[in-house]
Amino acid sequence: MAAETEEIRGIGHSVRRVEDDRFIRGAGNYIDDIHLPGMLYMAILRSPYAHAKLNGIDASAAQALEGVIAVVTGELMAQHNLAWMPTLSGDTEAVLVTDKVRFQGQEVAAVIATDPYIAKDALELIDVDYEPLGVVVSPDQAKAAGAPLIRDEKEGQTDNHIYHWESGDKESTDTAFAQADRVVSLDTFYPRSHPSPLETCGCVADVNPATGQATIYMTSQAPQLIRTVFALVAGLPEEKIRIVSPDIGGGFGNKVPVYPGYVIATAASLLLGHPVKWIEDRTENLISTGFARDYHMHGEMALKADGTMTGLRVSLDADEGAFFADAQPSKFKVGLFHIVSGSYDMPTAHVSADGYYTNKAPGGVAYRCSFRVTEASYMIERLVQNAAYEIGIDPAEFRTKNFIERDQFPYKSATGFEYDSGDYQGAMDLALEKVGYDQLRKEQAEARKEGHLIGIGLASFTEVVGAGPHKDYDILGIKMNDGAELRVHPTGKAILKISSQTQGQGHETTFAQIVAEELGIQPEDIKVMHGDSDDTPYGLGTYASRSTPTVGAATAMVSRKLRDKARKLAAHLLEVSEDDVEFEAGRFTVKGAPDKAVTIQDVAFAAYTNFPDGMEAGLEGVTYYDPPNLTFPFGTYAVVVEVDADTGVWKVDRVVAVDDCGVRINPMIVAGQIHGGLCEGFGIAAMEQITFDEEGNCIGANFLDYLLPTAWETPRFELGETVTPSPHHPIGAKGVGESATVGSPAAYVNAVIDALWPLGVRNIDMPLTSGKVWEAIQAAKAG
Ligand code: CDP
Repeated sequence: MAAETEEIRGIGHSVRRVEDDRFIRGAGNYIDDIHLPGMLYMAILRSPYAHAKLNGIDASAAQALEGVIAVVTGELMAQHNLAWMPTLSGDTEAVLVTDKVRFQGQEVAAVIATDPYIAKDALELIDVDYEPLGVVVSPDQAKAAGAPLIRDEKEGQTDNHIYHWESGDKESTDTAFAQADRVVSLDTFYPRSHPSPLETCGCVADVNPATGQATIYMTSQAPQLIRTVFALVAGLPEEKIRIVSPDIGGGFGNKVPVYPGYVIATAASLLLGHPVKWIEDRTENLISTGFARDYHMHGEMALKADGTMTGLRVSLDADEGAFFADAQPSKFKVGLFHIVSGSYDMPTAHVSADGYYTNKAPGGVAYRCSFRVTEASYMIERLVQNAAYEIGIDPAEFRTKNFIERDQFPYKSATGFEYDSGDYQGAMDLALEKVGYDQLRKEQAEARKEGHLIGIGLASFTEVVGAGPHKDYDILGIKMNDGAELRVHPTGKAILKISSQTQGQGHETTFAQIVAEELGIQPEDIKVMHGDSDDTPYGLGTYASRSTPTVGAATAMVSRKLRDKARKLAAHLLEVSEDDVEFEAGRFTVKGAPDKAVTIQDVAFAAYTNFPDGMEAGLEGVTYYDPPNLTFPFGTYAVVVEVDADTGVWKVDRVVAVDDCGVRINPMIVAGQIHGGLCEGFGIAAMEQITFDEEGNCIGANFLDYLLPTAWETPRFELGETVTPSPHHPIGAKGVGESATVGSPAAYVNAVIDALWPLGVRNIDMPLTSGKVWEAIQAAKAG
């Protein structure tokens, strides 16, 4: 009965990405590829002002343009109770302006036309009467006496303050500081940056007037969640809403929130009885959709004379923009920022944060990170380097002295996390060895004598991914359990339906590999489906590297569920007791008689053709996974740079990245994820910048001003790995998608500061443009 099985390409195999077959042929199916009969096109008019009272809108000329079907204003939306919507952080956000605009680029009106170009042309014919108001573009301005009140429509809101939040133990931290031999501090700013996915946001909303069925094709990282949010916002029955996320050209957190464009297009389709397509252009994406970071941070570290860390104190002002719309699922106001003690055995810590409204786009999305963990990682890794230099210890040695040690796991952090597993020293040792640290330090000293500035920067980050356990994590009360549904057909081929939504991470490949590992079916025989809220199990979507920790776990668990049933079927076929059946790589054998065997394919066929009396037919199941804890990937990055002191130009010579994400499902995909993250980290550290002038004009509204690294600027990456499995994840895997974006910015900046430290430079805020580096050198020289 049984044939010899070839090696199963399960966990640990660099299986080629099945999705690339269609992508590299240009055969992907993105939102703009969707064309429905009778489809109309929407364009959005956006405010040129950052803060202005809306006195009136005259849309008559636009309305008169041939091809224009309708002009949608806030007034019209208000008639349907849709002028405002809830945000993921419990605030409200304007869908279309009714009273005043609160940031440049805010949605003021929308045109629906028979052609996308007519819709755009008509925007210019809309006459809006704005009355400019005073503008606030930073937390300092927001809290200044007499600052313009941005959210004057909110009852009881008398200033621009949104929240105050604290974590850790203030009293014991104060004591640690009072008793410290040495205190080192750092003020730093993590600037506003933008995920800038290749494909901008958009949707096709198709509300069928006859059936009331709403099908919305959209660029969403979380289709299931979005359906529930739509049901809550629009008051529609949930089964009448179908959200379909087809291929998505990158998300990086940008495609988690519900944006006004989605709501307006859906309302327009409902009112007009036609499908409505809305596709953002690049500038719209940069100026109005979810930004990331914008944290002004102050950190202090208490130390003993010998360099032992005894306490950490961090305070920050968060610039939230005009609406508090942080996309994060925790009960903590600043997401997981309190992971800020990082990889270090910190006896006590205290974090305090204040959020402020400003006249800037809202969002606060987790741009390739777990909800503010990037800011935290940057803070601690920059502070550690400065502390090492101030107390005169090599930064690697300083880390060794203070790392959480391997045998301290599971480790309870001072701010309440339970780190699952780690080997920080092991990862750093490998990175130091690969980069040739000791030799580099010698070369650096020699080069300095010649006036050449070489810098070596380290970052030994700890991440926290896999949101999350139901006690602390939910979105609008919905717990973060994720599902996997698996069906094995009679011929032994399978369909896996998952609640995560790939945006380029390769889920169609890696999740099939998990099933392959557990059931012994080759990955190419497993079709992975996702992205359709009507046809996949419930779950909260893909962001913050949570897919592997949650859906990966659900996939392993559902496979095991099917394996248990398959074992019963195998026992029936082999005519032995279930206890006498062994399983390996797709073969069920009889204990002690390995030649008596059936394959998973034989068993699958029997599930529909030859099952024992009393057993239900079929081989399928569904599992929802509630993670018992988060997973804590980590690593050490080492960056070597050369800085030209005369011009401030710096260039990267080496990037060595050692990552530990537990068990790697597909090493090639993991390497790709790390390459991408290191590249994004470099962009943030070196060149990306969205800033605002004093009138609130967004500078960084296109790719000439907001510089993404191209292949030309991107350094070469050298990767290494250690493997410390997660003890609570069924396959020992931790997330990895965001590790390098989280960990690498500090390594690049530490390298430049390392080069400039002897000149007296202590900090330069990102991006480290050559102009800023040059200015810092001049300022240090001037004393
Ligand atoms: O949630 P997201 O997919 O963005 O992040 P992730 O869970 O870290 O996974 C990113 C990609 O790397 C997926 O295709 C994973 O299956 C893969 N991966 C892996 O092969 N091994 C790991 N230990 C972690 C992720």
